[in-house]
Amino acid sequence: MTTPLSQALPHAKKAYRAAIVHSLADPAEVGVEASYEYFVDGLMLVEDGRIVALGDAEDLLATLADDVEVVTYDDALITAGFIDTHIHLPQTGMIGSYGEQLLDWLNTYVFPCEKQFEDPEHSAQVADIFLNELLRNGTTTALVFGSRHKESVEALFSAAEKLNLRLIAGKVMMDRNAPDYLVDTAQSSYDDSKALIERWHGKGRLHYAVTPRFAPTSTPEQMTLAGQLLTEYPDLYLQTHISENLKEIEWVKALFPEHKNYLDVYDHFNLLGQRSVFAHGVHLCDEECERLAETGSAIAFCPTSNLFLGSGLFDLPMAERHKVNVGLGTDVGAGTSFSLLHTLNEAYKVMQLQGARLSPFKSLYLATLGGACALRLEDKIGNLQPGSEADFVVLDFNATPLLSYRMKQATSIEEQLFVLMTLGDDRTVSETYSAGVLVHKR
Ligand code: GUN
Ligand code: ZN
Repeated sequence: MTTPLSQALPHAKKAYRAAIVHSLADPAEVGVEASYEYFVDGLMLVEDGRIVALGDAEDLLATLADDVEVVTYDDALITAGFIDTHIHLPQTGMIGSYGEQLLDWLNTYVFPCEKQFEDPEHSAQVADIFLNELLRNGTTTALVFGSRHKESVEALFSAAEKLNLRLIAGKVMMDRNAPDYLVDTAQSSYDDSKALIERWHGKGRLHYAVTPRFAPTSTPEQMTLAGQLLTEYPDLYLQTHISENLKEIEWVKALFPEHKNYLDVYDHFNLLGQRSVFAHGVHLCDEECERLAETGSAIAFCPTSNLFLGSGLFDLPMAERHKVNVGLGTDVGAGTSFSLLHTLNEAYKVMQLQGARLSPFKSLYLATLGGACALRLEDKIGNLQPGSEADFVVLDFNATPLLSYRMKQATSIEEQLFVLMTLGDDRTVSETYSAGVLVHKR
């Protein structure tokens, strides 16, 4: 049906014919109808890793040169590659760890697991497993936490570079309130981050994210240096956690009594901005949302994680009211799946528990263009507009017997999308393309 992995030619013109849907804007901004484009029999033309045309197959086929290969998918839907705005590489090996809420879960499971990443060989091994999981699940871009060790990020970037992925990552900065074997110092975290930035930021499709774990594990000195890095290099990202768990919030209040709220701590150290992504934000107040919006900062909504750790229910309508950019995060390993389809299934339930709705097109937006907007990459990825990088997925309506039977009853793209999000997972993703190259085939 398609060119084998080893024979993929990124520069050759190639067309993909299937049902095609992609997000054009946030339904909360433009209404549902204007938020997407759908071609029941669509064609997408790809050249040199970019999308060069998109439209109805009938119209576009007539314009194609005879030698352009056309790959046709039946009972399938093409959409943009998924974008995971919050995930932890070194927690791949402890996903599904039983019984604790955030702070005990970190001490019991996360820190011992992250220690292993001082070993470059272990880092390389897990980086391969991790990227393979992303691609198997149709995720073509992720904003990734490494461990405290620069080896973890070195391994991840090396592996991602070979696959030509658009990926953002950073080494965790943490110089207090963690086991001795895992802390760095303000100065060493600055030096290690800087070395990684010099080597990787802007190389190919890779970007660096300054990564203080969260306020409790960084001294003011370390956060000052994190802020300094952001001013020293253009277009760096900042990723951290905020307001996930009530005990965590109490702890931050005790550590930073002079600040009016959690966000204000990060604000004080100049960590807010257009490329800053704060994971969770389950317990933010209006004032914090307002400030996030004002600074162009984004929230990563991580439903499976918030449910698994009993953290609470993210108030998406509140973020929408304040016009805060929101992306979707799996947050593996507190999150329980690499699949953004599965994550949307849980996101829907999180909204239901609050008496709110998550429409299939808002879900599509969150997993694709919304993530791209949160990462300020919407001119490159997030949808299938001509000019975009050809990061896309093929979703198979016949991935499982139940999905196949259920999809036959669906009468609209809206219903098809909702069923794919409710029943879908890694099995649903039959192919994943990065910059026009097939990087996963089920
Ligand atoms: N807060 C600080 N570190 C972490 C982490 O590793 N995972 C989650 N979910 N929250 C955090
Ligand atoms: Zn996290």
